[in-house]
Amino acid sequence: MLAVAFGLTLSAIAAAQLSGSVGPITSLSDKSNLCNVLDYGGTIGSSDIGPAIQKAYDDCVLTNSSASTLYVPEGDYDMQTWVTLSGGTKWAFRLDGLITRTSTTTGNMIVVENADDFEFYSQNSAGGIQGAGYQCRNDGPRLIRMVTSTRWSLHDLILVDSPEFHLVIQDGSGGEVYNLAIRGADIGGSDGVDVWGDNYWIHDVEVTNRDECVTVKSPASNILVERIWCNQSGGSAMGSLAVNTSIENILYRNVYTVGGNQAYMIKGNGGSGTVQNAVFENFISRDTAYGLDINEYWASMSTLAGNGVLLYNITFKSWDGNVADGVERSPIQILCADETPCYDIYLEDVYMWSLTDEATWKCESAYGNGACLESGTDYTSYAEQTTSYTQPAGYTTPTTMSGDLTAGFGSTTLIPTPTIPTMFFPGLPQISPLMKNQ
Ligand SMILES: *[C@@H]1O[C@H](CO)[C@@H](O)[C@H](O)[C@H]1NC(C)=O
Ligand SMILES: *[C@@H]1O[C@H](CO)[C@@H](O)[C@H](O)[C@H]1NC(C)=O
Ligand SMILES: *[C@@H]1O[C@H](CO)[C@@H](O)[C@H](O)[C@H]1NC(C)=O
Ligand SMILES: *[C@@H]1O[C@H](CO)[C@@H](O)[C@H](O)[C@H]1NC(C)=O
Repeated sequence: MLAVAFGLTLSAIAAAQLSGSVGPITSLSDKSNLCNVLDYGGTIGSSDIGPAIQKAYDDCVLTNSSASTLYVPEGDYDMQTWVTLSGGTKWAFRLDGLITRTSTTTGNMIVVENADDFEFYSQNSAGGIQGAGYQCRNDGPRLIRMVTSTRWSLHDLILVDSPEFHLVIQDGSGGEVYNLAIRGADIGGSDGVDVWGDNYWIHDVEVTNRDECVTVKSPASNILVERIWCNQSGGSAMGSLAVNTSIENILYRNVYTVGGNQAYMIKGNGGSGTVQNAVFENFISRDTAYGLDINEYWASMSTLAGNGVLLYNITFKSWDGNVADGVERSPIQILCADETPCYDIYLEDVYMWSLTDEATWKCESAYGNGACLESGTDYTSYAEQTTSYTQPAGYTTPTTMSGDLTAGFGSTTLIPTPTIPTMFFPGLPQISPLMKNQ
């Protein structure tokens, strides 16, 4: 009951950005029919818990007339058969155990698709997946994929060292993702959370890796991302933007990034479509390579057909950060497509500086207010301009958090399984307490 009341209050707070409520509509206590993998051929210490998960789902969750919870009790399990849990309504997946990947078959270890009114969680806040990606780097499965599901949540899970991405949210709507610890290798292809779809709330997530932290892809609308800790990560981003991009009504706020690639990046190269109505508020970043980075000539992707994605009505507000070397890589760069200049780009109280005490900013075909953005409404293209600037008056050395990484995890040795933190942004408590603390 407490959880329900709490959830309603929080949904109201988040509602401004979201287009409706998020999360399952049926409480866990009403999903009381337990489908325990130990009753469907599974054993603790199993060398392959996959078939028991699939069987518990097929022969109990899907067939029962009562709302069910698929249950993997506390304990260690290996897994070598991947599962697809498709079409379930009003159900939960309680994963209290830790599952270790032992097969290199590609794909996704756990796919949940077309679920409605669904909750994926661990009651002890200690369940999750150890991907042991160091054994098959970039040549093995991804961990969890949520596909075209509605009214769902995923929380209190630990995802470690996926051979590839950790959590992918593909289409669907009304999802809430929170209280996650994701710890990947210090190498590309280790994405934390990639999300596209409508009406999603992602909050209280810690990602350690060397690729996407929490990244929005197209098509996406009404997405709220907040209280994110990118601990020596590639950083959060939007993109890569492609042909027919459609992204709107996005709010990121209270994002803390230490080390890694960028504070935030919007990236593309050619392509078409639009990104509009986005706000990036309360960012703290320390010692990243890039800072606020819009780059529609991103060299790490090949040039796509099209005149570039149109970016407009995008606001960056209350940023405090430093980059490693502000001349080598500008703390602020806004490089828009010459054939599709961006406009209504606003920087308010964006105080980005450099650990080397000198910095430049760069703009190209970009209009709005702040840094080197040009004013006016003709929106004609202009070449990249690089300008030196002095330390902004509002800049203060960004706050630190205890537990910050000074180096990422290697890519050839086992990454230890962490616990889920209780704070993800300096000075702000997590929005919902961990399950184990409730
Ligand atoms: C319903 O779930 C129970 C476990 O509580 C299980 O024993 C039973 O076989 C299931 N019945 C059906 C029809 O799936
Ligand atoms: C982009 O949209 C157009 C018009 O709807 C469509 O014809 C084309 O196939 C789309 N291209 C891609 C790559 O999605
Ligand atoms: C610009 O974006 C903001 C934030 O998403 C939104 O509230 C506002 O209505 C947009 N302005 C216009 C003119 O669309
Ligand atoms: C960030 O990395 C450091 C160093 O490994 C680690 O001690 C800390 O627990 C990480 N933070 C989180 C929230 O996992």
